[in-house]
Amino acid sequence: MVLLDGKSLSKKMREEIKKEVEGLKKQGVIPGLAVMLVGENPASQLYVNMKTKACEDVGIYSINHRMPKEISEDELISVIKMLNNNPMVHGILVQLPLPPHIREERVIEAIDYKKDVDGFHPYNVGTLSRGNPMFYPCTPFGIMKLFEEYKIELKGKDVVVVGAGNITGKPMSAMLTNADATVQLCHIHTKNLKDKTSKADILISAVGKPHLITQEMVKEGCVVVDVGISKINGKVTGDVDFEGVSQKASYITPVPGGVGPMTIAMLLYNTLKSAINSK
Ligand code: GUN
Repeated sequence: MVLLDGKSLSKKMREEIKKEVEGLKKQGVIPGLAVMLVGENPASQLYVNMKTKACEDVGIYSINHRMPKEISEDELISVIKMLNNNPMVHGILVQLPLPPHIREERVIEAIDYKKDVDGFHPYNVGTLSRGNPMFYPCTPFGIMKLFEEYKIELKGKDVVVVGAGNITGKPMSAMLTNADATVQLCHIHTKNLKDKTSKADILISAVGKPHLITQEMVKEGCVVVDVGISKINGKVTGDVDFEGVSQKASYITPVPGGVGPMTIAMLLYNTLKSAINSK
């Protein structure tokens, strides 16, 4: 069994990005990312802090907009419009989830798709489906980089993705389809999940439910990617029963230290790309 070490690949990528940022600065462009956080969700606060710290480390200028949970949809959108028009800002990220009174689609659609470094804007979702978006969503993009680094073949492979969310599951299945894999997207209403997962050459779980994927649900030699992040008694845990599943897997991501650090590296990558595009 080989660990898919997102922590070390992310470090390598961040070092490369840092060099490219330095080069860009010599040409007079400072890459800038605006990170918007509405309310005080502790997990969101943690993610946003990690993202801004990662920007600092590679020399990307980051602006933090923290807004109270009572902010109106229109007020939030007016801040986005201001950032759309700010030439110092190359990437705009609105941390999700948003409070229930704010319509997520309206907010995402307000972001200039050329600054949509999360890849959530309908323009990028649509062009992702065709295979050539301006930005790939960071989590599935990071997983594709792990496959590339460890030379995991996708063409013709049976891949099962568990979790059909907009942030990971749906874009992941599009990217794998574009890479010529045969993809089955499973979710909360899927019948006989085990029947599906146990046939997978590659299994990706993005649900957020500890112990969802157990040893008897996976095939011998399967590649397992765990995107889940939950906390049990203060300990970060994925969707996969690592102890049992790692005995059968050929490759497996740890949690933490697998997909999470890759998500952040790809955000930096997308921001750098946007800054380069702006020249
Ligand atoms: N919430 C959970 N994951 C993400 C992400 O990748 N981007 C944003 N904006 N919000 C998230």
